[in-house]
Amino acid sequence: MRENLKKLEAEAERLREQLNDANYRYYILDDPDISDAEYDKLLRRLEALEKEHPELLTSDSPTQRVGAAPSEKFGVVVHRKMMMSLANAMDAEEMLEFDKRVKRLARTEEPIDYVAEVKLDGLGIELVYEDGRLVVGSTRGDGINGEDVTPNIRTIRSVPLRLIKPLHGKIPKLLEVRGEVIFPRKAFAKLNEDREQAGEPVFANPRNAAAGSLRQLDPRITASRQLDVVLYSPGVIEGVEFDSQWEFLRGIRAFGLRTNPLSRRCYGIEEVLSYWNEITEKRHDLEYEADGVVAKVDSYRLQEQLGEVSRSPRWAIAYKFKAQQAETLVERIEVQVGRIGSLTPVAKLKPVQLAGVTISNASLHNLDEIRRKDIRTGDTVMIERAGDVIPYVLQVTKPGHPRAKPFEMPQDCPECGAAIVHEEGEVGYFCVNANCPMRMRESIRHFASKNALDIEGLGDKLVAQLVDSGLVKELDDIYRLSKDQLTGLERMADKSAQNILDAIEKSRAAKLDRFINGLGIRHVGEHTARVLALKFRTIEALMDTSLDDLQGVRDIGEEVAKSIREYFDEPRNRRAVERLAKELKLEEVKQVEGRGALRDKSFVLTGTLESMTREEAESKVIAAGGRVTGSVSRKTDFVVAGAEPGSKLRKAGELGVRVLDEKEFVKLLEGGRV
Ligand code: IVH
Repeated sequence: MRENLKKLEAEAERLREQLNDANYRYYILDDPDISDAEYDKLLRRLEALEKEHPELLTSDSPTQRVGAAPSEKFGVVVHRKMMMSLANAMDAEEMLEFDKRVKRLARTEEPIDYVAEVKLDGLGIELVYEDGRLVVGSTRGDGINGEDVTPNIRTIRSVPLRLIKPLHGKIPKLLEVRGEVIFPRKAFAKLNEDREQAGEPVFANPRNAAAGSLRQLDPRITASRQLDVVLYSPGVIEGVEFDSQWEFLRGIRAFGLRTNPLSRRCYGIEEVLSYWNEITEKRHDLEYEADGVVAKVDSYRLQEQLGEVSRSPRWAIAYKFKAQQAETLVERIEVQVGRIGSLTPVAKLKPVQLAGVTISNASLHNLDEIRRKDIRTGDTVMIERAGDVIPYVLQVTKPGHPRAKPFEMPQDCPECGAAIVHEEGEVGYFCVNANCPMRMRESIRHFASKNALDIEGLGDKLVAQLVDSGLVKELDDIYRLSKDQLTGLERMADKSAQNILDAIEKSRAAKLDRFINGLGIRHVGEHTARVLALKFRTIEALMDTSLDDLQGVRDIGEEVAKSIREYFDEPRNRRAVERLAKELKLEEVKQVEGRGALRDKSFVLTGTLESMTREEAESKVIAAGGRVTGSVSRKTDFVVAGAEPGSKLRKAGELGVRVLDEKEFVKLLEGGRV
């Protein structure tokens, strides 16, 4: 018996570790490695163990808290009222149980009024409006302490900075509203496309993209990301009263806040269940990703009476959609080589229908993941569309028989046979051969793509033909192609050959930023390429810039600077760029926006100013070509300190950043010197 308990104890400990790790990846790194369904399964197993053997319960168990601690890079916001999470129901039966419990506690047999809402799959946030002005925006964090992401939240178009005064009624003194920051599906697809082109890791789903975008230290990155917000819960409110959830939703809509038009008042739990069916059917057509439906008791009086248990309200429940899963066979595991030479294992699957699409590939991410799940050729696996985007292998459901050998990363590149390098402690594997035909194909495809040299007609097929036939071994070979060479290729008519030559010719007059983007330097996408082009003006100047100088450029961080230096330090790349530059007539890029007196200067505001509000100060800085960020760093040019400044003033002192008082600030705004 004791033997058995020991085993269970070990299992509970293992589950805690797995869950803690998953939590950390999800909340802190924004880079989860297991699906929600898997997480739920582990959590449920641990809950069951702890329930059956209370002696196994520890105070730090993941079952005992809502989320992970906020990361340290943002300031902390303490939520005046805790931001709770929701209990889940897995099926209709559990929904009926929930309804029964509500009735029992409410001592009624009458149907309960619920509000049914779509459970959006984003990032929980809180907005605080004082006298109608947005003063704080924060993430949910662990429910009590969130991160101060005010400057980032302010960049979201659907967040009003000022409330509208409703026709009947007044602006409340204090209005805290909670909701979800979400990433529209379409914008998500575009973002990932761009990131892929820039050689940056793609986001696994819109939720991660929303979280990653909101938790950016630089609000301008957030601003470029098309986030959206939908609000659905009250925090502390003073100066206006709401008696029910339905009234609250209507009320905040009148203040100009965004709510979900799909929310519905339901009379009795059956109506909630039909709502769930309806939303389940159209979930793929929604503009946003959703992972279920939330049922909330409508009456706030009844909500109060019901109270909460372990940080979840007893008056609300989430009914998750059924996971979109299917079983199929792993026919083989292939390795794909990307533009920068990174190797990614991919499962080639027996085609299977999943959520209306035929799936025949699933990314296996990396070797660690394959090992952890022990996926081998010939296995039957369960796949899931994680957040309905990238198909994902959940687990092996039936090992192949006889079992194939465990998958190993090849020692030589499957494409060119060159050595594969792998650094101890890193997950990535790379092909060392910069001439690898696969890398070459990817490089050309990228070089010719729309946001780079934009060579029309130089698509996947032709690129493969050019590389495989040996006509193009280096990027600049493109510029020496002849009509004869092109028409010699399979299925290439005279006319198309001419069109392509014309397009290539046209691309010679390329803008410097597009050229830099086209080189496919790791971490250098459209935006960074533009920053570099504006700063260095010629490709030669960029090539010879020191690491220190690069790091000193606004918007260029350490990792990006290193990557740029590494790229140009490789003699082969240098030669290739020099040869390309000879073929092209690169055009300088001119700065168009932000010609004001404060051009390129970054400001941090702290404390209260006398002559203007914070919003006014921000708009004035922006109008003069500067920018305002939320936290002080070495790259901050000025900290403007009003009355009762906060910790930012201390930080400025520590970092030696110039501090301006209000008078000096006004002078600077008016074009004077300080
Ligand atoms: S109500 C006490 N309503 O789901 C009320 N939450 O696990 C708690 N969510 O952290 C939240 N859509 O981020 C509520 N319509 C909705 C929601 C919703 C998404 C998220 C929210 C929360 C999590 C609960």
